Amino acid sequence: MSTDLAARTEELRKQLEYHLYRYHVLDDPEVSDAEYDRLYDELKAIEDEHPDLAAEDSPTRRVGAQPSEKFQKVEHLSPMGSLDKVTTDEALEKWAADVQKRLGTEEPVAFVSEPKIDGSAISLVYEDGIFTRGATRGDGLRGEDVTVNLRTIRSILPRMQLRDGESPPPILEVRGEVYMPLSGFQAFNERQAADGKRTAPNPRNAAAGSLRQLKSQITAERPLAVWIHGMGHHEGLPAESHWEAQGWLRERGFRTNPLAEWHESIDSVAEVCRIWETKRLELDYEIDGIVVKVDSFDQQQRLGALHGRPRWARAFKWAPMTAQTRLNKIHIRVGRTGALNPWAALEPVEVGGVTISNATLHNEEDINRKDIREGDEVIVQRAGDVIPQVVGPVLPRKKRTRKFRMPEKCPLCGVNIVKPDGEAMHRCPNPKCMSRGLETLIHWVGPAMDIEGVGEQLVRRLWKEGIVTSMPDLYRLTKEQLMELDGYGEISAGNAVAAIEASTEKPFHRVLLGLNIPQAGWVTARNLAQHMGSVDRLLEAAQEDIEEVEGIGPDRAEAIAEWFSDEGNRSLVAELRELGLRFETGEELKPVEGPLSGQTYVITGTLEAFTREEAAAALEAKGAKVGNSVSKKTAGLIVGEEPGSKLKKAQQAGVPVLAEKDLVKLLGGS
Ligand code: IVH
Repeated sequence: MSTDLAARTEELRKQLEYHLYRYHVLDDPEVSDAEYDRLYDELKAIEDEHPDLAAEDSPTRRVGAQPSEKFQKVEHLSPMGSLDKVTTDEALEKWAADVQKRLGTEEPVAFVSEPKIDGSAISLVYEDGIFTRGATRGDGLRGEDVTVNLRTIRSILPRMQLRDGESPPPILEVRGEVYMPLSGFQAFNERQAADGKRTAPNPRNAAAGSLRQLKSQITAERPLAVWIHGMGHHEGLPAESHWEAQGWLRERGFRTNPLAEWHESIDSVAEVCRIWETKRLELDYEIDGIVVKVDSFDQQQRLGALHGRPRWARAFKWAPMTAQTRLNKIHIRVGRTGALNPWAALEPVEVGGVTISNATLHNEEDINRKDIREGDEVIVQRAGDVIPQVVGPVLPRKKRTRKFRMPEKCPLCGVNIVKPDGEAMHRCPNPKCMSRGLETLIHWVGPAMDIEGVGEQLVRRLWKEGIVTSMPDLYRLTKEQLMELDGYGEISAGNAVAAIEASTEKPFHRVLLGLNIPQAGWVTARNLAQHMGSVDRLLEAAQEDIEEVEGIGPDRAEAIAEWFSDEGNRSLVAELRELGLRFETGEELKPVEGPLSGQTYVITGTLEAFTREEAAAALEAKGAKVGNSVSKKTAGLIVGEEPGSKLKKAQQAGVPVLAEKDLVKLLGGS
């Protein structure tokens, strides 16, 4: 066993202990949940892999931290455990299979799914039907007696509502979660800020802090509520399952969550977990997952628990979509159109299950509106599967940082930067700026021509060495030149050269896309190729001729005509043609008769399973046309992640809006 690993284990335990203490005892966490989970998962992985490094007192084996000194400590009637989590459908099914195996293959197993409330765990004891003691979770065995504070919460039942003639159970302990509804949370923070007091970073902290006030009058002013999600110690209750017990509690006045669902088998559970991942945004309280429980008490008991974590339940947790990290530097990338794109170099952090180390920052105005600065601690966010974003800085700042300014000169060619009126982007106006050439090449091997095994990294190296500084250079590149680069041998160099050679067979519209003609994105390139048929016609075309192409208005047509009349561009086209690239439209764009003939679709945003090019090709193969802009005649707008302004336009024009799964249906399959 390496001593490094042992040291890392120790280090992780220390850090986790410290963060647990900040979180549970001081109500003042220093790191985000995502950061905590990352440390926890790392430790758990080491311990699982190396059982000899596991320890009885490891933070992975406990629930909370020591109770603080402020409140009296009380022993729970039975330990308050915690839940193991799963994050994927596969893990959920694996757990269910394990449950089934332990119980015996023949036995039916029913489940209950319910929201995992992101609040503060509590235990409530009822003696002869009367609420006598309430406690926080503490370390799972002993918590803090916060009875007085809990009595101020209206949804906590002071006395069970028994049926006529029903005698109360001598002792009953229920478990639940105290939380602050989102509406109340906002009002609470506004009041705190107005009074010059500290605001809470999230509703969970607000709830936990409110519960642990030494003056119960303060707790009473806070908008708190409770959901009861189970029983602890109980005697002589007529319930055989969790579902029945919850019903029994509800009938006696306890506040149980109406979103719980009973499942005959595990088959329908994963879908519920998925649905709530997005639907949770409609709730007035935060949930951070779905708890899935084996319903039968008998089965629960037979399954038992491991280190205080029941084998009969799992928390299905969604990957947190935000995290906190440091913004090390703001870099500028000059794009292939000359636009200056600022981006953030981040201290690597895991967000939504993916490690990210950079994020886009859009433009100067946006950066300053959000007040993002180099050196700040920032919140980063991933929405769906798209590029991560910096939401804003964590305030107050612990150290001074400086407001961001765009450079006055292009970082690559030194020419003065311009910012055209009414545009958000700063631009390098120099058409010969090396960034344009380099970025055009990167775009050429990537989105445009999709040359296998030749990517951004290689292009950057070739550019730096001065071997390839234009598209024609790329087609003159030899195996021997490549082999002079570190890491390229006979075979890899041969493959790269062959892939470049093979790209001369790619269709005309991809070549057009790769030429970096202003305002000619992939839809325009396809329509131009389809309408014009060859580059010869484009070289002769006047603006009016180009305006006849589907989806091309006067401005776009003018820019395209101008590009083709430029001498430099004309010789670039001639040179590439000489090198064997295709400048005529082939079979691939011949209109097809199909079920979607006569319909035009528009695509916006990033799709998950297709590139836009693929989506367009698939639609065209069914006879549809793909347009650039939405009009009343558009048959449908297909919307991916981060849709642009087209979505609003479609909604206004009453054009049907389709999600990616509708597109799949439209294409008639999976
Ligand atoms: S059942 C052995 N159901 O999540 C623990 N817990 O990590 C069984 N929580 O401290 C807990 N909503 O306070 C259960 N519907 C729910 C829950 C829930 C939130 C909290 C609970 C516990 C933590 C477990």
